[in-house]
Amino acid sequence: MERHVLTNTSAVLRRAWHCVAESEEVTEEPSRVWLLDEPWVVLRVDGAVRAFVDRCPHRSAPLSIGSVVDGELRCAYHGWRYDASGTCTAIPALGDDARIPGRACLVRPHAVTERFGLVFLAPDEPRCALPRADLLGDETFAVARCRSVRTHVGAAQLVDNFMDGAHFPYVHAASFGVRDATAVDSGEVVEDGWTVSSTFRAPYRNHDDPAVEEGTHPLVQPHTVRKVGRADLICELELSFELTGGSFRILYAVTPERAGTTRIHKVIARDDLHHSPGRIERVAADEDIVLGEDLRILERFDDASLDVSNRTEISTRADRLSVAWRRLLVRATADDEAARSGSGGANPGPKLS
Ligand code: FES
Ligand SMILES: [Fe+2]
Repeated sequence: MERHVLTNTSAVLRRAWHCVAESEEVTEEPSRVWLLDEPWVVLRVDGAVRAFVDRCPHRSAPLSIGSVVDGELRCAYHGWRYDASGTCTAIPALGDDARIPGRACLVRPHAVTERFGLVFLAPDEPRCALPRADLLGDETFAVARCRSVRTHVGAAQLVDNFMDGAHFPYVHAASFGVRDATAVDSGEVVEDGWTVSSTFRAPYRNHDDPAVEEGTHPLVQPHTVRKVGRADLICELELSFELTGGSFRILYAVTPERAGTTRIHKVIARDDLHHSPGRIERVAADEDIVLGEDLRILERFDDASLDVSNRTEISTRADRLSVAWRRLLVRATADDEAARSGSGGANPGPKLS
C-alpha cells in the first residue's frame, strides 16, 4: 500500500469546506486569510461574504490591500475594479471607453458561506456538505464560541486527536477525564459515504449539573458520546447525559492556514444550563482549557504531518474511529487521483509503447 501523508498543504483538502474566519472578522474592508498556503481576500459586499484568490490578475498586487468603492473591490495598485462576481468593470488607465480583456476576472472559490457565526470556504467542490445548521440544536440550546487558537500542530493531527478516545484519562485528567476509566468502549464505527461515526459510553465529570452540588447526582456520570468525522477537517460531537437528559454539542473546525500554521475553531451548545444564565461562556472557557491540554501534548510532536495510511504507527482496536477517519482520507486521495487520471488532467505517467 502506498504511503499517504497529510500536511497543511495537501491537495486532497481542497475538496472540502474550511472555516477561514469568524463572521465578525469579515467586514467591508478587504482582508487576507490563508488556506492550504494560498492567500484569499475576503470582504462583505451588501452584507454577503465574498472571497477571491488574493492576487490581482493585472500585476499580482494583493487585493486585500485594496478597498471597496461603490460596492466594488478596487485594487490599490492601478485601480482596476471588480464587481461582486469578480468580473473586472474598470481599467482607469484606459479611460472611459476601455475594452476590458475577458480574462480580467478574479479567481473565485467553489463556494463561500456563513454558518455557526463562522465563515466557510470550499476551494473546490466539497465532498461533504457543511454540517446542518441544527447541529447546534434549536432555541433551547445556549451557544458559545470558544477562543480561536493558532498552533503549529498539523490540522490533520488535530482532527485525529479529536477522533481519539483513549487519551482522556491521561491528557484530560485535570478537566473532564476520569483517571481510572482507561479502557475505551468504542462502539462500532459506522461508515456512511464520506463520514465515519461512533457512539460509545464513557464516564464524565459533569461539573455543570447543579444536582451534583445538591448531592443528588454523582460528579462522575455515565454519558453517551457520538463523534462524527468527515472527509474534511470538521468534526461533530454530541454528549448525552443520562442522569440529566442534557445534550452538549460541539462543532470543531480546524483550518490548515499555512504549512506551519493551523487555526482551531470550536463552537459549543448545551440545553442543560437553564439554571444558570451566562454559564455557557464558562463552559466555553473550560473547553479552552481542554484544548490547551491537548495542545500541550501535540505541540511536542516532532512532525506536524499525519500518515493516514497507517504505515508508520501501530493502531489497536481502541483506535478504530481514528483509523476509520484516516482511511476516509486515504479514500479521498485515491478518489482525487482517479478523477485526475480519468480526465487525463494531471500527470498520467509514462506511456507504454
Ligand atoms: S495590480 Fe491590480 S490594478 Fe494593477
Ligand atoms: Fe483531547
